Amino acid sequence: MKSENMVEAVNVYRELSSNGRRLPILRGISFSVASGEWVALTGPSGSGKSTLLGILAGIDKPTSGNIRVGGYEISAQSENNLARFRNQMIGIVFQSFNLIPTMTALENVEAPMYIHPNKRNAQSLAADMLRQVGMGDRFHHLPHQLSGGEQQRVAIARALVTRPQLLLADEPTGNLDSSNSKQVMQVIQEMSRRMNLTVIMVTHDSSVASYADRCLHIMDGRLAEQEPEKPPRFPVNQVAA
Ligand SMILES: Nc1ncnc2c1ncn2[C@@H]1O[C@H](COP(=O)(O)OP(=O)(O)OP(=O)(O)O)[C@@H](O)[C@H]1O
Ligand SMILES: [Mg+2]
Repeated sequence: MKSENMVEAVNVYRELSSNGRRLPILRGISFSVASGEWVALTGPSGSGKSTLLGILAGIDKPTSGNIRVGGYEISAQSENNLARFRNQMIGIVFQSFNLIPTMTALENVEAPMYIHPNKRNAQSLAADMLRQVGMGDRFHHLPHQLSGGEQQRVAIARALVTRPQLLLADEPTGNLDSSNSKQVMQVIQEMSRRMNLTVIMVTHDSSVASYADRCLHIMDGRLAEQEPEKPPRFPVNQVAA
């Protein structure tokens, strides 16, 4: 249902053990993200942004707390269920692209479909997704034959080929110059509209954060919600009339 929240996190804690000592990383994080909303996650290095994204993706588990994604309680699932959840519900994009170096662009995008129910259409879906991100003329290039911006567009196609509802991105433009960064952001924006994606994106870059509807700021493992970076829709001086 469209009005339902895509993500609901309640009192999420994550502790690590280091030399027998407990090290708190996330200290009671609660928030929700509406379906179709775009949220930027910002905060200083080491504040727990990637840890939180990993938990939302079901890659990592919270020490305590509850996470629902798409109405699905992920904190108490078996590994098999989580693997299916990650494959069908979530797309993930990283700063370092993480393409498989020995596989072509098309093969990289097909890969998540090998374990997807719609497996038999893997190649045509991968080709279609590569065209949608503007990489229709690079099917048979290996990652090292592509620029950083092109590799990231292939990685976006790979994240979206399974038709997920939630896109998680960890500093997706962190390795790109400003012109490639803008192009990648425009591709993500266009795809998020076409697919009605919910987007949660970690970034240090305010021009990247400005694509978001809302900004969540994390500091020492806790959240402080911030005003959106966009200008207000109704400037104050126009309201008086
Ligand atoms: N496997 C691990 N073992 C020990 N400490 C870890 C581990 N993973 C993360 N940490 C610690 O957890 C804290 C949060 O890390 P995290 O990677 O989530 O930060 P971040 O906000 O993504 O930082 P950055 O902006 O630098 O990417 C850091 O202090 C980090 O050193
Ligand atoms: Mg990080």
